[in-house]
Formats: sequence, structure tokens, C-alpha cells
Amino acid sequence: MSGLTRARRAAAAFAAATAAAATALLTAPAAVAAPQPIVGGTTTTTTAYPFMMQITDAAQNQFCGGTLVSPTKVVTAAHCMVGETTGGVRVVGGRTYRNGTNGTVSRVSGIWVHPGYTDVTDGEDVAVLTLSTPMPYGTATYVSSAQTSVYAAGTTARVLGWGTTSQNGGSSNQLRTATVPTVSDTGCRGAYGSAFVASDMVCAGHTSGGVDACQGDSGGPLLVGGVLAGITSWGEGCAQPGYPGVYTRLTTFSGLVTAQVNS
Ligand code: ARG
Repeated sequence: MSGLTRARRAAAAFAAATAAAATALLTAPAAVAAPQPIVGGTTTTTTAYPFMMQITDAAQNQFCGGTLVSPTKVVTAAHCMVGETTGGVRVVGGRTYRNGTNGTVSRVSGIWVHPGYTDVTDGEDVAVLTLSTPMPYGTATYVSSAQTSVYAAGTTARVLGWGTTSQNGGSSNQLRTATVPTVSDTGCRGAYGSAFVASDMVCAGHTSGGVDACQGDSGGPLLVGGVLAGITSWGEGCAQPGYPGVYTRLTTFSGLVTAQVNS
């Protein structure tokens, strides 16, 4: 997506500053994690995660993830909705496989994109879709604005999606999940410089890389203790040492999300 291209360009400006650290990690044999499939995860199902939605085009080709937070409301990333119209988007629930035909397909009657959204590296990467057809699946609860402790560095977080299983690789047909530790704001600033906006973003990933969300996972959930705490947003490549995944810091936007959920 174009958002990612811009993200890469911005991140590249800070690559030089962290090159020494990254090289140190790459040359330390014990620290090198082999690129793995999300990247580094395991297969799962929408039975295990019923709130996990495919965001698709009108032909039901999945291009992003989303989280069902009420029967007719889905939280996703603003950058997933760039250039999209209500007529061109579908939300599919209860479908574990990208190439499946089962589950519930809903049209979208409303797309709310954060009014301040311009680019993933400027933050505000949140959108809420209103469904024409209620989903008969369990919903996820999401963080309140006060629950900022979910981001404490080192907290185990879970990501989910049908995205590519390696950088520049192919999408996964089956839903995948992985766990990654949250990274401190200082650590994330060290990786991404001013492209990391601490008020709007949170990072997660191992210092050695190897496990991450990747292209096509955007819009999907970052769960902490089973609660929606973030939205897959951007990163420099995928699963690279020294470059954690960047997620929308949902506590900052939970009031706005609630206003949409209740609208
Ligand atoms: N922007 C990507 C998407 O649209 C998600 C990238 C996430 N990257 C990462 N390294 N965590 O699917």
C-alpha cells in the first residue's frame, strides 16, 4: 500500500543512525532469528478468534484485517481505507481461510476515518466501519483511554492476520497469530526517530526480529490479555532485527471509537 511506501521512506531516514546496532545484532549468531512465518507465528481459526474480520474488496479479496467490537462495528486502520468507498468494501466474518467462501459477508454502510489521518507515520491510523449486516460472532472488548498500562514494555501482545509470512512473501491462506513483546517508547524512537509518534503509536517485537505482522495484516488487532489494544499499522520491512512493528495506540483513540460505535 502507498502508506507503507511512505513509511519505508520515512524510516529509511533513520536507518543510518541504527545501522551499527542492527549490524551488531546481525553478526551475533545467537541473536539472529531465522525469518519465519504473520511472520513467526502459527495457524489459527476464526473459531478461536471470532472477532477477527477480513476486510475485502467487492470480489471478497482480503486486503486488510479488522476487529469486530459490536455486531455492526469494525475497528481497522485508516490507511486501509485510503481510496475506498462504502460500495467497494466488504467485511467477512467467520472465514478462517482467505480462499474460503463460508462465513458472513457484510456490506459497509459507513466508513469513518480519523479526520486527522494523513499518513501512517503521522499517526491517527484508525477507522471504524459500520456494517449493513450484523455479524453473528463474538465481539472483542477494546481498551479504555485510562488503560495505558497495557503498553508497559515487555508485555506480551498477540497479533493476527492473513498477511505475508515473510517480507516480500505471499499472503497466508489460513489465519495466523503470533505473540510479540511491547517495546518502550524510547526503544521505538531509537528505531524510527520522529516517524514514531508516541502519543498515537506503540511498538511490539523482539530485539532480534523474527516475529512480526507484515503486509496484509494491517488493520488487524494487537491484543493484550485478549483486549484490543492496538491496530497493525506499519514497520520497516517485517520482522527485521531492530525494527519492531508499529501499532496504533488505541487508548488515545478509544473515546473517538466509542463515539463511532454508539453512532
Ligand atoms: N502496512 C502494512 C499493511 O498494510 C502492515 C505493516 C506492518 N508491518 C510490520 N512490520 N509490522 O498491511
